[in-house]
Amino acid sequence: MPEGDLSLQVIPMPADTNWNGDVFGGWLVSQMDLAGAVHARRLSRGRVATISINNMVFHVPVKVGEVLACYTRIVKKGTTSMQVMVDVWESNDIENPVLVTNGIFTYVAIDEHGKKRPLP
Ligand SMILES: CC(C)(COP(=O)(O)OP(=O)(O)OC[C@H]1O[C@@H](n2cnc3c(N)ncnc32)[C@H](O)[C@@H]1OP(=O)(O)O)[C@@H](O)C(=O)NCCC(=O)NCCS
Repeated sequence: MPEGDLSLQVIPMPADTNWNGDVFGGWLVSQMDLAGAVHARRLSRGRVATISINNMVFHVPVKVGEVLACYTRIVKKGTTSMQVMVDVWESNDIENPVLVTNGIFTYVAIDEHGKKRPLP
C-alpha cells in the first residue's frame, strides 16, 4: 500500500501516449520528477535541481484516464542532496491501488545563482 506523502495527483491525456497507445514513459518520469521536487523543495525550504534518477522501474502499463497518485519519501539526506523515493500508484479503485512505477530521484538544494547550498 502507498507510503509517504501524496505529493502529486494527475490524469494522463491522449496526447501523453506512445506509439502503442499506452502512456509514454518520459511523460511519467516528468510527473515523478515534479512530485519529488515538491517534496525536496519543502524539505530544503528553497530551490532544488535534479541531479540523478536511479532504479526506475515501469511495473505495468498506464492507460489514458487513469488516476495516478505520486507518493514521495526521503530515503537519504546528505549535506546538500536528498534522495527521494517516488512511487506512482494507479488509484482508480481506491481500495486496491496498483504500483505502476517507482524510482529514486536525487535533488541538490541550490541558491539563487544555481550553486549548491547546505540543507537546513
Ligand atoms: C546540481 C548542481 C548544482 C550540483 O553542483 P556540484 O557543485 O557539481 O555538486 P557536487 O558534485 O559537489 O554534488 C552535490 C551533491 O550531489 C551529490 N551527487 C553528485 N553527483 C551525484 C549523482 N550522480 N547521483 C546522486 N548524487 C550525486 C553529491 O554527493 C553531493 O551530495 P551531498 O552534498 O549531500 O554530499 C550541478 O550539478 C547542476 O547544476 N546540475 C544540473 C542540474 C539540472 O539542470 N537539472 C535538471 C535536469 S533537466
